Amino acid sequence: MAATYDIAMKNKDSQEDSSAPIVAVKELRKSFGSRMVLNGISLSVTRGETLAVLGRSGTGKSVLLRLIIGLETPDSGSACIYGQDIAGLALDRLGEIRKKVGFLFQHAALYDSLTVAENVAFPLEHHRRDLSGSERDDKVKQLLAEVGMEGDLQKMPSEISGGMQKRVGLARALALEPEILLLDEPTAGLDPISSGEINDLILTLQRERQMASIVVTHDLLSARTIANSLALLDQGKVVIEGKFEDLQQSDIGFVKEFLRQS
Ligand SMILES: Nc1ncnc2c1ncn2[C@@H]1O[C@H](COP(=O)(O)OP(=O)(O)OP(=O)(O)O)[C@@H](O)[C@H]1O
Ligand SMILES: [Mg+2]
Repeated sequence: MAATYDIAMKNKDSQEDSSAPIVAVKELRKSFGSRMVLNGISLSVTRGETLAVLGRSGTGKSVLLRLIIGLETPDSGSACIYGQDIAGLALDRLGEIRKKVGFLFQHAALYDSLTVAENVAFPLEHHRRDLSGSERDDKVKQLLAEVGMEGDLQKMPSEISGGMQKRVGLARALALEPEILLLDEPTAGLDPISSGEINDLILTLQRERQMASIVVTHDLLSARTIANSLALLDQGKVVIEGKFEDLQQSDIGFVKEFLRQS
Protein backbone atom coordinates (compact mmCIF):
# COMPACT_ATOMS: atom_id res chain seq x y z
CA MET A 1 0.00 0.00 0.00
CA ALA A 2 2.78 2.40 1.02
CA ALA A 3 4.64 1.63 -2.18
CA THR A 4 1.59 2.40 -4.32
CA TYR A 5 1.10 5.65 -2.47
CA ASP A 6 4.74 6.70 -2.88
CA ILE A 7 4.67 6.03 -6.60
CA ALA A 8 1.35 7.82 -7.01
CA MET A 9 2.84 10.85 -5.25
CA LYS A 10 5.94 10.75 -7.41
CA ASN A 11 3.71 10.56 -10.50
CA LYS A 12 1.80 13.55 -9.28
CA ASP A 13 5.01 15.50 -8.71
CA SER A 14 6.39 14.62 -12.11
CA GLN A 15 3.12 15.55 -13.80
CA GLU A 16 3.32 18.94 -12.15
CA ASP A 17 6.90 19.37 -13.28
CA SER A 18 6.94 18.06 -16.84
CA SER A 19 10.69 18.60 -17.09
CA ALA A 20 11.41 16.11 -14.27
CA PRO A 21 13.00 12.98 -15.71
CA ILE A 22 10.78 9.92 -15.47
CA VAL A 23 13.62 7.58 -16.35
CA ALA A 24 17.11 8.69 -15.40
CA VAL A 25 20.25 6.66 -15.93
CA LYS A 26 23.41 7.94 -14.26
CA GLU A 27 26.97 6.75 -14.82
CA LEU A 28 25.74 3.22 -15.39
CA ARG A 29 28.42 0.54 -15.63
CA LYS A 30 27.98 -3.13 -16.41
CA SER A 31 30.47 -5.88 -17.23
CA PHE A 32 29.98 -9.54 -17.98
CA GLY A 33 33.13 -11.34 -16.84
CA SER A 34 36.04 -9.37 -18.24
CA ARG A 35 33.87 -7.73 -20.93
CA MET A 36 32.93 -4.16 -20.06
CA VAL A 37 29.63 -3.50 -21.86
CA LEU A 38 28.45 -0.19 -20.40
CA ASN A 39 31.14 2.16 -19.15
CA GLY A 40 29.39 5.15 -17.60
CA ILE A 41 26.13 5.81 -19.44
CA SER A 42 23.95 8.79 -18.47
CA LEU A 43 20.61 9.42 -20.19
CA SER A 44 17.13 10.57 -19.24
CA VAL A 45 13.61 10.96 -20.60
CA THR A 46 10.75 13.16 -19.46
CA ARG A 47 7.00 12.78 -19.98
CA GLY A 48 5.97 12.93 -23.63
CA GLU A 49 9.55 12.49 -24.79
CA THR A 50 10.97 9.70 -26.94
CA LEU A 51 14.67 8.93 -26.82
CA ALA A 52 16.12 6.68 -29.50
CA VAL A 53 19.19 4.66 -28.51
CA LEU A 54 21.36 3.73 -31.46
CA GLY A 55 24.54 1.73 -31.80
CA ARG A 56 26.16 -1.21 -33.48
CA SER A 57 25.29 -4.77 -32.58
CA GLY A 58 26.72 -5.78 -29.22
CA THR A 59 27.13 -2.26 -27.82
CA GLY A 60 24.84 -2.98 -24.88
CA LYS A 61 21.56 -1.41 -25.97
CA SER A 62 19.45 -4.35 -24.81
CA VAL A 63 21.47 -4.61 -21.61
CA LEU A 64 20.70 -0.93 -20.95
CA LEU A 65 16.94 -1.54 -21.19
CA ARG A 66 17.22 -4.65 -19.02
CA LEU A 67 19.07 -2.63 -16.36
CA ILE A 68 16.34 0.03 -16.45
CA ILE A 69 13.62 -2.48 -15.56
CA GLY A 70 15.77 -4.40 -13.12
CA LEU A 71 16.30 -7.61 -15.10
CA GLU A 72 20.04 -7.03 -14.63
CA THR A 73 21.84 -5.18 -11.84
CA PRO A 74 24.51 -2.57 -12.55
CA ASP A 75 28.08 -2.82 -11.26
CA SER A 76 27.87 0.87 -10.41
CA GLY A 77 25.78 3.92 -11.23
CA SER A 78 22.01 3.93 -11.17
CA ALA A 79 18.87 3.53 -13.25
CA CYS A 80 15.97 5.40 -11.64
CA ILE A 81 12.28 5.44 -12.51
CA TYR A 82 10.29 8.24 -10.85
CA GLY A 83 13.42 8.96 -8.83
CA GLN A 84 13.62 5.45 -7.38
CA ASP A 85 16.78 3.44 -7.91
CA ILE A 86 15.57 0.21 -9.51
CA ALA A 87 18.49 -1.90 -8.27
CA GLY A 88 17.76 -1.01 -4.65
CA LEU A 89 14.03 -1.78 -4.68
CA ALA A 90 12.34 -4.62 -2.83
CA LEU A 91 10.44 -6.97 -5.14
CA ASP A 92 6.98 -5.62 -4.31
CA ARG A 93 8.04 -2.05 -5.07
CA LEU A 94 9.76 -3.17 -8.24
CA GLY A 95 6.50 -4.91 -9.23
CA GLU A 96 4.54 -1.69 -8.67
CA ILE A 97 6.91 0.27 -10.91
CA ARG A 98 7.01 -2.40 -13.60
CA LYS A 99 3.23 -2.13 -13.97
CA LYS A 100 3.81 1.38 -15.26
CA VAL A 101 6.38 0.23 -17.79
CA GLY A 102 5.47 -1.33 -21.14
CA PHE A 103 8.40 -3.42 -22.34
CA LEU A 104 8.84 -4.87 -25.80
CA PHE A 105 11.66 -7.41 -25.84
CA GLN A 106 13.95 -7.60 -28.85
CA HIS A 107 12.57 -10.99 -29.87
CA ALA A 108 8.98 -10.22 -28.86
CA ALA A 109 9.13 -12.98 -26.19
CA LEU A 110 5.57 -14.16 -26.62
CA TYR A 111 4.40 -17.20 -24.66
CA ASP A 112 4.60 -20.02 -27.23
CA SER A 113 1.77 -22.05 -25.74
CA LEU A 114 -0.71 -19.15 -25.63
CA THR A 115 -2.67 -17.71 -28.54
CA VAL A 116 -2.15 -14.15 -29.73
CA ALA A 117 -5.23 -13.04 -27.76
CA GLU A 118 -4.14 -14.93 -24.63
CA ASN A 119 -0.69 -13.32 -24.79
CA VAL A 120 -2.23 -9.85 -24.74
CA ALA A 121 -4.77 -10.87 -22.08
CA PHE A 122 -1.99 -12.15 -19.80
CA PRO A 123 -1.04 -8.86 -18.08
CA LEU A 124 -4.72 -7.91 -17.81
CA GLU A 125 -5.55 -11.21 -16.06
CA HIS A 126 -2.79 -10.59 -13.54
CA HIS A 127 -3.08 -6.87 -12.93
CA ARG A 128 -6.60 -5.81 -13.95
CA ARG A 129 -8.77 -8.07 -11.88
CA ASP A 130 -11.39 -5.32 -11.87
CA LEU A 131 -12.23 -6.16 -15.50
CA SER A 132 -14.92 -8.74 -16.28
CA GLY A 133 -14.16 -11.48 -18.81
CA SER A 134 -16.01 -9.68 -21.58
CA GLU A 135 -14.41 -6.32 -20.74
CA ARG A 136 -11.03 -8.02 -20.92
CA ASP A 137 -11.86 -9.61 -24.27
CA ASP A 138 -12.94 -6.23 -25.64
CA LYS A 139 -9.73 -4.63 -24.42
CA VAL A 140 -7.64 -7.37 -26.02
CA LYS A 141 -9.44 -6.86 -29.34
CA GLN A 142 -8.98 -3.11 -29.14
CA LEU A 143 -5.25 -3.45 -28.35
CA LEU A 144 -4.75 -5.89 -31.23
CA ALA A 145 -6.72 -3.64 -33.57
CA GLU A 146 -4.38 -0.76 -32.67
CA VAL A 147 -1.45 -2.77 -34.04
CA GLY A 148 -3.39 -4.19 -36.99
CA MET A 149 -3.58 -7.75 -35.65
CA GLU A 150 -7.30 -8.04 -34.89
CA GLY A 151 -7.70 -10.77 -37.51
CA ASP A 152 -5.27 -13.16 -35.81
CA LEU A 153 -6.67 -13.51 -32.30
CA GLN A 154 -6.66 -17.30 -32.19
CA LYS A 155 -3.34 -17.90 -33.96
CA MET A 156 -0.35 -19.30 -32.09
CA PRO A 157 2.92 -17.28 -32.11
CA SER A 158 4.55 -19.96 -34.27
CA GLU A 159 1.91 -19.34 -36.96
CA ILE A 160 2.69 -15.65 -37.44
CA SER A 161 5.75 -13.85 -38.81
CA GLY A 162 8.45 -12.22 -36.67
CA GLY A 163 7.11 -8.78 -37.54
CA MET A 164 3.61 -9.79 -36.52
CA GLN A 165 4.99 -11.18 -33.26
CA LYS A 166 6.55 -7.75 -32.66
CA ARG A 167 3.17 -6.11 -33.13
CA VAL A 168 1.53 -8.52 -30.70
CA GLY A 169 4.38 -7.84 -28.25
CA LEU A 170 3.67 -4.13 -28.62
CA ALA A 171 -0.05 -4.66 -27.96
CA ARG A 172 0.89 -6.64 -24.83
CA ALA A 173 3.30 -3.89 -23.74
CA LEU A 174 0.45 -1.37 -24.00
CA ALA A 175 -2.13 -3.48 -22.15
CA LEU A 176 -1.71 -1.84 -18.76
CA GLU A 177 -1.66 1.68 -20.25
CA PRO A 178 1.94 2.29 -19.25
CA GLU A 179 3.40 5.72 -18.53
CA ILE A 180 6.79 4.52 -19.71
CA LEU A 181 7.51 2.55 -22.86
CA LEU A 182 10.76 0.67 -23.44
CA LEU A 183 10.96 -0.79 -26.93
CA ASP A 184 13.82 -2.97 -28.08
CA GLU A 185 14.03 -2.91 -31.88
CA PRO A 186 10.28 -2.45 -32.59
CA THR A 187 10.79 -2.29 -36.36
CA ALA A 188 13.57 -4.85 -36.86
CA GLY A 189 12.53 -7.57 -39.27
CA LEU A 190 9.60 -5.56 -40.61
CA ASP A 191 9.13 -4.54 -44.22
CA PRO A 192 9.21 -0.75 -44.82
CA ILE A 193 5.41 -0.44 -44.90
CA SER A 194 4.90 -2.31 -41.61
CA SER A 195 7.80 -0.37 -40.11
CA GLY A 196 6.14 2.86 -41.15
CA GLU A 197 2.90 1.70 -39.52
CA ILE A 198 4.68 0.93 -36.26
CA ASN A 199 6.40 4.33 -36.37
CA ASP A 200 3.02 6.01 -36.91
CA LEU A 201 1.56 4.04 -34.04
CA ILE A 202 4.39 5.07 -31.72
CA LEU A 203 3.93 8.71 -32.75
CA THR A 204 0.18 8.52 -32.14
CA LEU A 205 0.70 6.94 -28.75
CA GLN A 206 3.23 9.59 -27.85
CA ARG A 207 0.80 12.35 -28.85
CA GLU A 208 -2.21 10.85 -27.11
CA ARG A 209 -0.69 9.37 -23.98
CA GLN A 210 2.43 11.47 -23.45
CA MET A 211 4.47 8.49 -22.33
CA ALA A 212 8.18 8.68 -21.63
CA SER A 213 9.72 6.31 -24.17
CA ILE A 214 13.10 4.80 -24.89
CA VAL A 215 13.36 3.04 -28.21
CA VAL A 216 16.40 0.96 -29.07
CA THR A 217 16.81 0.70 -32.81
CA HIS A 218 19.19 0.08 -35.69
CA ASP A 219 16.75 1.91 -37.92
CA LEU A 220 17.90 5.50 -38.33
CA LEU A 221 14.82 6.45 -40.33
CA SER A 222 12.60 5.15 -37.55
CA ALA A 223 14.70 6.99 -34.94
CA ARG A 224 14.41 10.25 -36.91
CA THR A 225 10.68 9.80 -37.27
CA ILE A 226 9.69 8.94 -33.72
CA ALA A 227 12.33 10.40 -31.42
CA ASN A 228 12.83 13.85 -29.94
CA SER A 229 16.43 13.01 -29.26
CA LEU A 230 18.90 10.34 -30.31
CA ALA A 231 21.79 8.85 -28.35
CA LEU A 232 24.50 6.94 -30.14
CA LEU A 233 26.43 4.39 -28.07
CA ASP A 234 29.87 2.98 -28.75
CA GLN A 235 32.33 1.11 -26.56
CA GLY A 236 30.20 1.54 -23.48
CA LYS A 237 29.78 5.30 -23.79
CA VAL A 238 27.30 7.79 -25.23
CA VAL A 239 29.26 9.20 -28.18
CA ILE A 240 26.67 11.90 -28.92
CA GLU A 241 23.17 12.81 -27.79
CA GLY A 242 20.95 15.32 -29.53
CA LYS A 243 18.54 15.87 -32.38
CA PHE A 244 19.12 14.19 -35.72
CA GLU A 245 20.51 17.49 -37.07
CA ASP A 246 23.08 17.51 -34.24
CA LEU A 247 24.25 14.08 -35.35
CA GLN A 248 24.38 15.24 -38.98
CA GLN A 249 26.48 18.27 -38.06
CA SER A 250 28.84 16.35 -35.78
CA ASP A 251 32.57 16.28 -36.55
CA ILE A 252 33.08 13.08 -34.57
CA GLY A 253 34.46 10.41 -36.88
CA PHE A 254 32.38 7.58 -35.41
CA VAL A 255 29.14 9.58 -35.80
CA LYS A 256 29.91 10.39 -39.43
CA GLU A 257 30.74 6.76 -40.13
CA PHE A 258 27.57 5.52 -38.39
CA LEU A 259 25.36 7.89 -40.40
CA ARG A 260 27.12 6.97 -43.62
CA GLN A 261 26.54 3.25 -43.05
CA SER A 262 22.95 3.57 -41.84
N1 LIG B 1 23.49 -12.15 -19.54
C1 LIG B 1 24.62 -11.95 -20.22
N2 LIG B 1 25.74 -12.65 -19.93
C2 LIG B 1 26.90 -12.44 -20.57
N3 LIG B 1 27.06 -11.54 -21.57
C3 LIG B 1 25.99 -10.83 -21.91
C4 LIG B 1 24.72 -10.98 -21.27
N4 LIG B 1 23.84 -10.11 -21.82
C5 LIG B 1 24.53 -9.46 -22.77
N5 LIG B 1 25.80 -9.88 -22.82
C6 LIG B 1 26.84 -9.34 -23.72
O1 LIG B 1 26.79 -7.94 -23.64
C7 LIG B 1 27.05 -7.36 -24.91
C8 LIG B 1 25.94 -6.40 -25.27
O2 LIG B 1 24.75 -7.14 -25.50
P1 LIG B 1 23.40 -6.46 -25.96
O3 LIG B 1 22.45 -7.59 -26.18
O4 LIG B 1 22.99 -5.42 -25.01
O5 LIG B 1 23.81 -5.80 -27.34
P2 LIG B 1 22.91 -4.93 -28.30
O6 LIG B 1 23.52 -3.58 -28.42
O7 LIG B 1 21.50 -5.01 -27.86
O8 LIG B 1 23.10 -5.71 -29.69
P3 LIG B 1 22.04 -5.98 -30.88
O9 LIG B 1 21.97 -4.69 -31.64
O10 LIG B 1 22.67 -7.07 -31.67
O11 LIG B 1 20.75 -6.37 -30.26
C9 LIG B 1 27.22 -8.52 -25.87
O12 LIG B 1 28.60 -8.76 -26.03
C10 LIG B 1 26.57 -9.67 -25.17
O13 LIG B 1 27.14 -10.88 -25.54
MG1 LIG C 1 19.82 -5.84 -28.60
